[in-house]
This record gives sequence, structure tokens and C-alpha cells, in this order.
Amino acid sequence: MEIGITQAVDQNVARPDNVPADRVFDFDIYRDVPEGTDFHRSWRALMDVVPYPLMWTPHNGGHWVAMRGDVSDVVMSQSDRFSNHTVLVPKDTAGEAYRLIPLSLDPPEHQPFRKLLNDNLGPKPLKAVEQKITDLTVSLIEGFRGKGRCDFMHEFAEQLPVQIFMHIVDLPLADLPKLKHLADQFTRPDGSLTYPEVAQMFRDYLIPVITARRGGDGQDMISRMVNGTVGGRELTDVEAQNICMQVLVGGLDTVVNLLSFTMSYLAEDHDLRRALAADPSRIDDALLEFLRRFPVVSSSREVRHDVDFEGVRLKAGDMVMAPTIVVTLDDAYNDDPLEFRLGRAGRRHSTFGKGSHTCPGAHLARMEMKIVLREWFARIPEFRLADEAGLRFTNGIVGSVKPFILEWDE
Ligand code: HEM
Repeated sequence: MEIGITQAVDQNVARPDNVPADRVFDFDIYRDVPEGTDFHRSWRALMDVVPYPLMWTPHNGGHWVAMRGDVSDVVMSQSDRFSNHTVLVPKDTAGEAYRLIPLSLDPPEHQPFRKLLNDNLGPKPLKAVEQKITDLTVSLIEGFRGKGRCDFMHEFAEQLPVQIFMHIVDLPLADLPKLKHLADQFTRPDGSLTYPEVAQMFRDYLIPVITARRGGDGQDMISRMVNGTVGGRELTDVEAQNICMQVLVGGLDTVVNLLSFTMSYLAEDHDLRRALAADPSRIDDALLEFLRRFPVVSSSREVRHDVDFEGVRLKAGDMVMAPTIVVTLDDAYNDDPLEFRLGRAGRRHSTFGKGSHTCPGAHLARMEMKIVLREWFARIPEFRLADEAGLRFTNGIVGSVKPFILEWDE
């Protein structure tokens, strides 16, 4: 099986002195997943090929990549060695442009900003949104059920989480295509805009929104954040922009992709689909396994000081990518990790991250996924992929399935 990796020959960044030659591999996080495999299997194939806990790639400015679950978790969570100052590669372009709050902050600065997010995304504030998620899910499904087919990503996955999110932040749905395009340029850039251009366009959009909501008594998430306090003071304008931008980027892309991985997998696993249709009480357990089996995020950390780590010398300023994917796919974490197993005992994953930056949107994401599975199976228990050629996948900071059509019999 082609997995898109070789020991590197052409390098677009020269190998620094601290990188041993045998740790260099030709891996590009923004390169498409080769045809004939899928996003997670290509990561696992990479883990099987690279015999080290950390490899180095010359692509995207040159950076390390954790190849084992425990190493990824340590890099994500040990802020005394690995800083959140820059979290995206290439460091000098994407990393610099993505100085968002709170993801780019280390403790102790991180905590008060993080509290602003927790106050808005916990079970209590989200209780009010639950019925809206159910209503929208049902109306989207009913909108295409009679047609016997849907373009799942465009007609459903990109609609539901994103419309709910626009409701939470009280932004008009008409602005959605523009915001989604900008969010995608951070995680899967198509080269049409530079990172500073993306960041500036986001700011140009947000500045009037924030100005209008400052000092008001709005109860939407943006109003509550920009009128909140950190350490007893108001947020500066730039802080307000950066925390709003972070929430938009985090909330617009990830659930879409996890939903698409889940439903495309269900379309192909006939036994699983029929088991859930026959006994919907198993959906809760299936959801836990979907979250374990389909992590999508690969963010990075910046090395604080020169340090010996996993058999190499890391230099201050080096970037280390910590894919959440290698955690779940590590045999030491999950037995036969590629197998989707209902009732799996002792699931271990870092799909929502590890340490103090663990995703504050996890409750919302789980709630949405659960409602979708419940309402979908109640209406369309049997479905399949329309295209026999199968699925295509895109790599990136957030991995994704390319758009696909689902079909069912009336
Ligand atoms: C299935 C869906 C989701 C997945 C898999 C996911 C995954 C992640 C991961 C892995 C991180 C940690 C990144 C790191 O430490 O470098 C993270 C952080 C974050 N996520 Fe999510 N996320 C999801 C949904 C959401 C949603 C719906 C929102 C917003 C409503 C959101 C907002 C954020 C924010 C603001 C952070 C930064 C937190 C901090 O720095 O303290 N995420 N997410």
C-alpha cells in the first residue's frame, strides 16, 4: 500500500545539526492522502514504517513529529518543556499568524482566558441549545429523506454544527461561507491566501462585531466573552479579536469532519449499521468508539529550551507536531486500534487533546454527535455510499473526508 512517505531525499529545509540523518522522513502534513488508503490507515502505516518515537521532516519549515501515543501526549501537555507559543507549522507563516487565544498561551496566562470559554461551553449554558440541535437535525434530515440521497458534507455535516455554532455566537448565517472559507485556510490552506491575509480578513470581519457588542448586555457567546474580565481587567481589543477568532476556527471545522468520518464509516460497515439500527441503545457506546477511532487534529508545540528527548537533542524553537491520531492508533494504548469495536474495554485516546488546552468544545461536540446518530437512525436506518469508487481523504492540521454522497431506498 502506498502511504506517501519515504526516507527523505529532496529537502526543502536543510537538516539542522541536531537532527540525525536516519530520523528524516519525507512527510508533508498538507499533502493529500494517497488514493487506495484512508486518513487514519495512512497515519498507522506511517507509524509502522518509522522506527522512532520522534521523526523529523524537512517540509513546512522542518519539524519533528511524535510517532507514539505517550510521546504525543507528553508534547501536548508538558508546558514546561513544550510551549503553546506557536502551535501550527510552518512556524514562520501559519504559526505566527495563528497567535490565537487561549491556544497560544502557556500557563499561568492561559487560565483566565480559558475560564471565559468554559463559562460558555459547559453543560449548563448548552442545555438551552439542546432542543435547537434536535430540531435542526430533524429538519435537515427530513429535507432530503424523500430524495433517497444527500451530499452528506454539504447538505448536512457543514450545515448542522455550523448553524448551531452561528446561533451560539449570534452571527448571521449569510456570513457562514466566508467564515468557513477563512477557517479552512488555517487548517487546510489551498494557497489562495497567505496566512497574514487570512488573519487580517478575520480581524476585518470581527472588529465591527466586537465593537457593537462591547458594553452591551447580549447573552451570545461573543458578547459574553468580549465583556468578560481576565484577572480583574477587561480584554484588550486584540485579545477580544484573538479569542473570537480561536472559537470560530475551533468550532467551524472539527465537528464537520468527525461527523463525516463517522457517517461514511457507517455507510460501509453493514454489521455495525444494522446493529445500531436494531438496538439504538447501543448508540451511546458507538459514539465513544467513534470518538476514539476517528481523531482528526495534529497541532504542534515549540520547544522552550534545548533538551534531550526520546534519543535526540531538541533545540529551543524547534517545532514538534503531536498528532492526536497516533495516540489512538498506538497498540500500547488500544488493542487492535484500527478495528471499530462496540463495547471495547478501556478505550484510550486524546481526540480532544491532552493537558490544560483540552478542547472546551468537547461537550458541544459530543452532544451534537449523539443527537445526529439518534435522529438519523430513527429515520434512515439503512444507507450506503453512492460512489462505488469509494472515499477520498485530505490531510492537514484537521484531517477530513472529501465530500461524498449517501443513498438509501425509500
Ligand atoms: C469533534 C470536534 C472537536 C475536536 C475533535 C476538537 C479537538 C480539539 C483539540 C485536539 C484541541 C487541543 C489542541 C491543542 O492542544 O493544541 C482543541 C482545542 C480547542 N477547541 Fe476543539 N475540538 C472539537 C470541537 C470544538 C468546538 C465545537 C469548539 C468551539 C465551540 C472548539 C473549540 C476549541 C478551542 C477554543 C480550543 C483551544 C482551547 C485552549 O487553548 O485552552 N472545539 N480542540
